[in-house]
Amino acid sequence: ASPKYRFLRQQGLQPARQLPSALIIGVKKGGTRALLEFIRIHPDVRAAGSEVHFFDKHYSKGFEWYRHHMPLTLEGQITIEKSPSYFITKEAPRRVQHMNPSTKLLVVVRDPVTRSISDYTQAASKKAEMKPFEQLAFVNGSTRNTIDTSWGPIKLGIYARYLIRWLKYFPLSQFLFVSGERLIVDPAIELKRVQDFLGLKRVVTEKHFYFNSTKGFPCLFKSEGRSSPHCLGKTKGRNHPFINPTVLQRLRDFYRPFNSRFYQITGINFGWS
Ligand code: A3P
Repeated sequence: ASPKYRFLRQQGLQPARQLPSALIIGVKKGGTRALLEFIRIHPDVRAAGSEVHFFDKHYSKGFEWYRHHMPLTLEGQITIEKSPSYFITKEAPRRVQHMNPSTKLLVVVRDPVTRSISDYTQAASKKAEMKPFEQLAFVNGSTRNTIDTSWGPIKLGIYARYLIRWLKYFPLSQFLFVSGERLIVDPAIELKRVQDFLGLKRVVTEKHFYFNSTKGFPCLFKSEGRSSPHCLGKTKGRNHPFINPTVLQRLRDFYRPFNSRFYQITGINFGWS
């Protein structure tokens, strides 16, 4: 960069695109959109609007391609991107490390049983004639059989397995695990943790949120680019189908050891039963 450019940028007058210094890597249906929308209210945060899928689908296009998909930032602003598929992509940890070994990694996690139903509900909304959850969750569609761990909605909830892959490339201190449950019940608390983790001033607080009883979720009084109150879109906070309680219990029993392992690795008990 020329001296003039550097001077302008340091004065906060020259916007530029930067590779992200923090990523929301997962988990799918954990509440990743909510987290991104909430953190980007912060004036020192700029985020790519849509999922770029660089580290899973577009890696061969190179870092310059990725950088061009980032928003303009001024000196002192950080760039964030979220693509929840990164968490489960085998090559992603090595690729992210290659971009920048000090990348901060945010993971929104949610009770894997609820997450699986959320994932199923999303898939069913895109496809006519989806088999019932209770069938898809078991090998050969029968509750007499074992749980079908090859089915995406079930497999993705084994968080410990994916985290172990990431820990070969990044120390635990570079991760922040956000509780998807608390993000709904008390978004301000989780946002405080996120801002501290990112080294940001605590600007996003309880003042920014209100509970919208029609939506059944916390919404924002104002947000990036909008000054009026608004909630996340229709695809966030869907109604879940009723699931046979025996099936739910089977799933809880299935996930218990994996959850314990995840608590053990992260040092956090997320309280999923
Ligand atoms: P459901 O639609 O199953 O309820 P993601 O953005 O990672 O796809 O996660 C979607 C989930 O975010 C939703 O799943 C919902 O439970 C959760 N969520 C968390 N906070 C929310 C909010 N303020 N508004 C809407 N959904 C929210």
